[in-house]
Amino acid sequence: MEEKLLIENTFKFVASILDNDYSGHDMGHITRVYNLACEIAEKITCDKLVVKLAAILHDIDDPKITKLNTGDCTKARVYLNTLQYDKEFIDKVCDIINNMSFSKNKEKKQVLTIEGMIVQDADRIDAIGAVGIARTFQFGGQHNRGMNSSIDHFDDKLLKLYDLLNTDEAKSVAKPRHDFLVDFYNQFKEETK
Ligand code: ADP
Ligand code: NI
Repeated sequence: MEEKLLIENTFKFVASILDNDYSGHDMGHITRVYNLACEIAEKITCDKLVVKLAAILHDIDDPKITKLNTGDCTKARVYLNTLQYDKEFIDKVCDIINNMSFSKNKEKKQVLTIEGMIVQDADRIDAIGAVGIARTFQFGGQHNRGMNSSIDHFDDKLLKLYDLLNTDEAKSVAKPRHDFLVDFYNQFKEETK
């Protein structure tokens, strides 16, 4: 299949799962992660198709969304199988999806391929900056949590993400967003002290 059509079809498949998501994993997030991953991948030697597919498919098997905890990217694998890619290619995409999340890397840093590092960086960039702040309060509201609980998430995760980025290319995109996050956090603390 021509790549443009493949990407369009993959977006449509993912939209059929995430269209009603209001937890911060909607198609806006997927589109932004895809665009960021493409922007970073452009500057790095890597398999761009693996980056693109992993970016589009990265959240459909998240236990927070599927409410399952299989720890395997079942939906993405079934989808890629229908396209008749070989097992090696499918494993490459699915290993990224299985190993890139913050929680999976909390206790022990997972070994990622360069393609995995790029998609992980793109996902993390979308968790900071103005969009990251908006997603955090949206998530908090959906889970019946107050503003202060969402602010705790800044300490637990968001403020750490910049230093955890894998690639220098991602760091240069992320820097203004990280600085904005820090300013927001400090201002919030100032107004609520
Ligand atoms: P992704 O898998 O896309 O990296 P997550 O599933 O970790 O993102 O979270 C989705 C969005 O919800 C993120 O922007 C994140 O900051 C926010 N979020 C996740 N956990 C919490 C929490 N405990 N409190 C507030 N926001 C959260
Ligand atoms: Ni994501």
